[in-house]
Amino acid sequence: MKLSVIGCGYLGAVHAAAMAEVGHEVVGVDVDSHRISELAAHRAPFYEPQLPEILASAGAKGGLRFSTDIAQAAGSRVHFLAVGTPQRANGNAADLSAVHAAVDALIPHLQPGDLVVGKSTVPVGTAAGLAERIAEGCPGAMLAWNPEFLREGFAVEDTIHPDRIVYGLPRDEAEALVSRQLLDEVYAVAIARGTPLVVTNYETAELVKVAANAFLATKISFINAMAEISEVVGADVTQLADAIGYDARIGRKFLNAGVGFGGGCLPKDIRAFTARAEELGRGESVSFLKEIDAINLRRRQHVVDTVVDVLGGQAYQKKVAVLGLSFKPDSDDIRDSPALDVAVQLKGRGADVVAMDPKAVPNSMRKHPQLAYTEDVETALGGAHAVVLVTEWAQFRDLDPVWAAQLVKTPLIIDGRNCLDADRWRAAGWTYRGMGRP
Ligand code: UDX
Repeated sequence: MKLSVIGCGYLGAVHAAAMAEVGHEVVGVDVDSHRISELAAHRAPFYEPQLPEILASAGAKGGLRFSTDIAQAAGSRVHFLAVGTPQRANGNAADLSAVHAAVDALIPHLQPGDLVVGKSTVPVGTAAGLAERIAEGCPGAMLAWNPEFLREGFAVEDTIHPDRIVYGLPRDEAEALVSRQLLDEVYAVAIARGTPLVVTNYETAELVKVAANAFLATKISFINAMAEISEVVGADVTQLADAIGYDARIGRKFLNAGVGFGGGCLPKDIRAFTARAEELGRGESVSFLKEIDAINLRRRQHVVDTVVDVLGGQAYQKKVAVLGLSFKPDSDDIRDSPALDVAVQLKGRGADVVAMDPKAVPNSMRKHPQLAYTEDVETALGGAHAVVLVTEWAQFRDLDPVWAAQLVKTPLIIDGRNCLDADRWRAAGWTYRGMGRP
């Protein structure tokens, strides 16, 4: 099938390459010329495992092109919208300007019978408005909403093997039927594999995405709230999570307490959801999300305070090695990253911060040139008065505490992700402080 993907960021670039990989003929379009020139050369413009491999293999098959010219989308039957919907600079709501710009730019290139498919995360009610705009601009063209649930670090796997597919279809029955047939053809491989499919209306599809992210954020803040209590009473939140996680109704996933959640989705999605609910006169229905956000932001503060505390109440001119900058491992994404936030706050408290990350140093350096960076863990640890682990990269989880103790000035470690073996680090002479652990 001929497909276009408008917006080639963390979502769109992976979607374009994955759709080509499963056999479609895809053109990816983006306004960022650097990103497009990298993708056109079949190089990944950001770090995402497996993306280089599928770009190369889809490129070799010849079914994958990239362009900055939206006219190249003409001739495709299905057009995916994968542009960003960041938090507005002046509030909590989502900034939809990129979505509107993409739709307006696409309309002149649509044909009757084409299907525009929204993948971006949008406030409920957006799709209905966009469908009207598309119908006016190109009578006979249609819109469906098909939210994306990919996790960074597993984006290729999640796109090719999704755990579920959601179609939000037009109210008009004839349009719904055609849209569904087109989407079934797009996802033929995943559907043949028995992937669960939920077919619904626009509003449900839009809500599914924000509800999923709100639920995940709630799970994380719930366990972080338990960490706060555990810290006061001397309980161990990791054992608490194991114990409640054995209950299949609760489950152990997304119950890792630590520095909290970040990234391009969870934080801004819960804020945008709150803002939208307030617009709808239903603010009270999701007012708990403000508490979820507050618990989450307190975690960053708590990690910073713990570092200052173990340094004897004074961080000034103390070398602090910050291990991790990306918002999660296996990603170079620093959007709303708790790790980067901790590094910046420690610098603000006067510490000589040396921040280390295997992939996120270039992005961090552009945003916060005031920090000292390294991609070498030995340089980061050398002479450090304290070490704080804030992104659980395998490289940090696998650190040898005996080796690391020889490099630092003082063997003090704050494990902001509870990902180290506390007994092993203590046995090697370290003062170990976890999150919500005695
Ligand atoms: C998330 C959703 O998982 C995905 O379905 C959606 O499409 C986009 O948003 P992503 O942002 O890639 O994906 O990251 P995710 O794996 O959900 O982690 C989000 C944040 O929560 C990270 O900062 C992570 O470190 C943190 N987290 C996760 C915890 O602090 N504790 C946990 O137990 C799990």
